[in-house]
Amino acid sequence: MKRLAVLGHPVAHSRSPAMQNAALAELGLDDWNYEAIDVAPDEFEDRVREMAAGEFVGANVTVPHKGAALSVADELSEVAREVGAANTLHFEEGRIQAYNTDAKGLLSLLPGPVEGKRALVLGAGGAARAVVWALVRSGASVDVWNRTALRSQHLCEDLGGAPVGEPTQGDYDLIAHTTAVGLSGEDPFEELPLEAEGFRPEQLVVDLVYSDRPTALLEAARERGAETIDGLAILVAQGAASLRVWTGQDPPLEAMRRAVRGGEGPR
Ligand code: ATR
Repeated sequence: MKRLAVLGHPVAHSRSPAMQNAALAELGLDDWNYEAIDVAPDEFEDRVREMAAGEFVGANVTVPHKGAALSVADELSEVAREVGAANTLHFEEGRIQAYNTDAKGLLSLLPGPVEGKRALVLGAGGAARAVVWALVRSGASVDVWNRTALRSQHLCEDLGGAPVGEPTQGDYDLIAHTTAVGLSGEDPFEELPLEAEGFRPEQLVVDLVYSDRPTALLEAARERGAETIDGLAILVAQGAASLRVWTGQDPPLEAMRRAVRGGEGPR
């Protein structure tokens, strides 16, 4: 048996097991299995070392372990090191390798080049770091807003981009939302420096929060004619890149999209 898992806390609602098991089945990898494992922060490192010494081939790592995933690794990919967070671990001969596929996953979904475009990133956590890294590396001019200003300042010192206190929504070609707002039903227009009426048609709006229905943020953006990328598309893109790391095979994107969207076609 070759085992894979997503490690998080909490992790019960993750769609990664459904998505990755559908992908493994599609590839005919019948002796592989992907599960969700809830790991408390103080158990994370021991658990990963145990997994690396056992049947596990690798893991995805989600909130709140993306920083710890870097420290436990024996080797870091260049992207994981630069981003300062890892969402994918690969165990080879007992060694732990860390990758960050969030950044490249986002880049693979952008409809066109972002060089010279103005981007606003909301948030300063692990997800924000991957997004800022990807956009800065692609030549966008990136502003970063965060509820706690000190964190956006630190992020920009590390990765580039400029902290912004009161962003003007209409100025941006791309707006990427990476905070936890909306995960538990919070109103994005209460918690974030955005207005529902403030989007415009030429904008691209990305929401990393995923849910079955379009989030309030993306619904408002679409109503104003903006283009959108939702959190499920991002989940598939990063998961596909992780699957390539573990199996070396081309990921079956269509099967993965169907699995995360509950058997329906892409929306
Ligand atoms: P992740 O690794 O998923 O990015 P994280 O590091 O816990 O998770 O970051 C969560 C992000 O959501 C942070 O930017 C956080 O803002 P703070 O740095 O001020 O804590 C943001 N966030 C969470 N709840 C929020 C809220 N109600 N309003 C605004 N931002 C919020």
